[in-house]
Amino acid sequence: MRVFVTGGAGYIGSVVAEVLLARGHAVSVYDDLSEGHRDAVPDGARLLEGDLLDRARLDAALRETRPEAVVHMAARCQVGESMVNPAAYYRVNLLGGLTLLDAMRAAGVTRLVFSSTAAVYGEPAKQPIEEDDATAPSNPYGETKLAFERALDWYGQAYGVRAVSLRYFNAAGASPRAGERHDPETHLIPIVLQAAAGRRGAVTIFGDDYPTRDGTCLRDYVHALDLAEAHALAMAALADGAPSAAYNLGCGGDGFTVREVIDTAARVTGRSIPVSVGARRPGDPATLVAASTRIRRALGWRPRHAALDDIIRSAWTWMTSR
Ligand code: UFG
Repeated sequence: MRVFVTGGAGYIGSVVAEVLLARGHAVSVYDDLSEGHRDAVPDGARLLEGDLLDRARLDAALRETRPEAVVHMAARCQVGESMVNPAAYYRVNLLGGLTLLDAMRAAGVTRLVFSSTAAVYGEPAKQPIEEDDATAPSNPYGETKLAFERALDWYGQAYGVRAVSLRYFNAAGASPRAGERHDPETHLIPIVLQAAAGRRGAVTIFGDDYPTRDGTCLRDYVHALDLAEAHALAMAALADGAPSAAYNLGCGGDGFTVREVIDTAARVTGRSIPVSVGARRPGDPATLVAASTRIRRALGWRPRHAALDDIIRSAWTWMTSR
C-alpha cells in the first residue's frame, strides 16, 4: 500500500515508517523537521519537507505520492509546553490536522490512522482506563488531540473518511535504528538513561507522595515497536473495510512506578543512577494504566515487548550506540 506518514521523522513516526517499509508498503514521510530529524527517516522512505498548515504544499505532496492511507503523527506533544503555549497546540494539532483532512478530501484519500493519547482522559476516575470512559483532558495537548478525534467522527459521517485513533499511553523504547531524542528531553526513561550514562546529573522524582505502591507516579509503558505494529494492523483493518474506532494502546497489567523505572534502569545498565525527590509536576495524574482489550479483540494486537527490562534495554542500546 502507498502510505503517507506525517511526522515520520519524529520518534514514533520513524519507527512506524520503518515497520511499514519492512512489510512492503511504499512510505512517504511528510515532516517539517521542526522536532523530527532527517536522519531518523528510514532508508527507502521518501522525505517530503513541509508544514501541516501549508495547504498548497500538502496538496502537491498528496498529488505526487497518491497515498491509499495516511498515518497522521505530526504534532506537538509536550504536556507542560501545552500549558504555557496552548496557541501552538491549537495551531499545529487542531488547525494542522484539519488542513490535512481537507487536503485528504480533495485528494480522495479516505483512510487515516491517527496518533492520539491517553491525555484525552485527563484525571481518570478509575483504572484501568477503557475507551468508553469519560474524556476530560486536563491540558491543551489532550484537548487538541480529542478535538481532532471528534472532528474525525463528523468528517466520517459527512465525507466518508474512516479513521482509527490510537490513544498511546507512555511510548518508550527504541528500534535498533531509531529512538527518542527530544531537545530538551522531558520524558522519564531517556532522562534516567542519560543520568546512567553520566550525561546529566541526578534524576528528580516529581513527587513521592502519590497514592501508589511506592508513592511515585505509575504509568503504562509501551514499546515503540509495539505501537508501530498497532498502526500496521489498523491500516490493514481499514483497507479491509473496518469502521472507524478509537483504541487504547498500553500493555495494561500493574504498570510501573517512577522508582521502579529507575531501579530497573540501574539493573539493566549496571550503572548507579543518582536520584533526588522534588515537588510534584503540575498536571501529573497519579496512575495511568490502559485497558487494551478492545484493540486486542478487534485487531489482534499483542504487545511483544511489554517487559520493562526489554523496553529500557532497547532504549539504552540505541542511546549508547550513537
Ligand atoms: N518524571 C519524573 N522525573 C522526570 C521526568 C518524569 O519523576 O525527570 C515522572 C513524571 O512526573 C511522570 C512519569 O515520570 O509521573 C512519566 O513522565 P513522562 O514525562 O515520561 O510521561 P507522562 O506520563 O507525563 O506523559 C505521557 C506522554 C504524554 C501523554 C501523557 C498522558 O508523554 O504525551 O503520558 O498520557 F500525554
